[in-house]
Amino acid sequence: MTDESRLESLDALVSLCKRRGYIFQSSEIYGGLNGFWDYGPLGVELRRRIFDSWWSTMVSRREDVVGMDASIITHPRVWEASGHVESFYDMMVDCRECNRRFRLDHLIQDAVDNGTLDAIFPDRDNSAAPAEGELPTRCPACAGELTEPRQFALMFETRVGAATDSKSVAYLRPETAQAIFVNFKNVQMSSRQKVPFGIAQVGKAFRNEVTPRNFTFRSREFEQMEMEFFVHPDEERQWFDYWIDARHAWYEQLGIDPTRLRRRDHAKDELAHYASYTTDVEYQFPFGWAELEGVANRGNFDLTQHGEHSGKDQAYFDPTRNEKYVPSVIETSAGLDRTLLTVLADAYALDEIAGEERTVLRLAPHLAPRQVAVFPLSKKLGEPARKLADDLRKRFHAIYDDSGSIGKRYRREDEVGTPYCVTLDFETLEDDAVTVRDRDTTEQERIGLSALGDYLGERLRR
Ligand code: GAP
Repeated sequence: MTDESRLESLDALVSLCKRRGYIFQSSEIYGGLNGFWDYGPLGVELRRRIFDSWWSTMVSRREDVVGMDASIITHPRVWEASGHVESFYDMMVDCRECNRRFRLDHLIQDAVDNGTLDAIFPDRDNSAAPAEGELPTRCPACAGELTEPRQFALMFETRVGAATDSKSVAYLRPETAQAIFVNFKNVQMSSRQKVPFGIAQVGKAFRNEVTPRNFTFRSREFEQMEMEFFVHPDEERQWFDYWIDARHAWYEQLGIDPTRLRRRDHAKDELAHYASYTTDVEYQFPFGWAELEGVANRGNFDLTQHGEHSGKDQAYFDPTRNEKYVPSVIETSAGLDRTLLTVLADAYALDEIAGEERTVLRLAPHLAPRQVAVFPLSKKLGEPARKLADDLRKRFHAIYDDSGSIGKRYRREDEVGTPYCVTLDFETLEDDAVTVRDRDTTEQERIGLSALGDYLGERLRR
């Protein structure tokens, strides 16, 4: 094997995802719908594995976190109390010449990052970065005049019931967290948990993003994996530190290159309205460092708001301290689609074997959607090879493939990230052994059929 190269732009990944059935554009035959994506046969398996890893790490293997699954549409007052109706907006500007639309914060940040402030602030001394509130005057694409900034509501509205008046308006949730807060008492009392404890949920969230971009990275429909951990106000910092470490470690457990992961504390002016401090886990994508997950100290903002708006006291009586208080919340908020994109982008590599270039997805074996591929060396061996694939399928996600040369079959599996290929040849009929080929090293080993299940099982376990 020679040196490998990593993903340089998302284009190669977008094309692989479509060609091999990981991710398709939504409603593609109608021209697609910007910001929406569909997962194909391999994508849906990878999603499930990431979900399972998160759920077992955050819920099943812990005594102090329980799960729930709430409806997507809630009482609209939930979003008034949470502050979303009032402040969940992005500021955007349009170009009067080319009609392009920009998110104001992105426009300025991109110009800072790319050293092109002169293009959008032509009349300013751009040796220092713009101060908060300074507005660009020119379009970065065509130097046309920009409109005044306007608020763009991020929540999708819908209507509930037959009436069409304003009372029927409801929202598709923009985060799963609020349903956890409004169920705090239900869950705490029914599960008999004591503070400190957490409530976790995985589910769809919707945001009418001004500029969806970078493949699935910023979509309008996406899945969040959130956990709200309720603590005594004196213990906010220690639990925050605990959770940021734990969450960072999880991405490493998924096999993501640790040198491409980092933490970044939010500056005061980028904190969400509910947070007193936040640290993001970021990944170095081909388009730059970007957020995978936010760990935030939300204090008692949400429970207090819901207590006031609903008239139902959300204070908790702590039997250990003999004290009544509204718990503070440390939130861990990750994106399932974003994690999946990261796993794929990080696994993507090009290398060369025997002078031939190959594309390989070096997925962590425990995440690979297809775990084993079984090949008969010749179609004459189809029957025993099919039987072997059927046997392996009882424990693993296995396929049978007899089309093309063995080399071609290896390439096909490398490209989707299958960690092991098993070839059954004429000798198998004599020695009851098969050749197992490792995706990453391309090394081959002869393994007895009776030992094969355990051999693979050990390597495919986390
Ligand atoms: N409850 C807190 C919250 O929602 P956020 O930073 O807005 O915080 C948390 O979102 C995570 O949800 C992000 O780190 C990201 O992984 C995911 N996410 C947010 N907006 C997204 C979008 N438009 N497309 C894909 N994932 C998104």
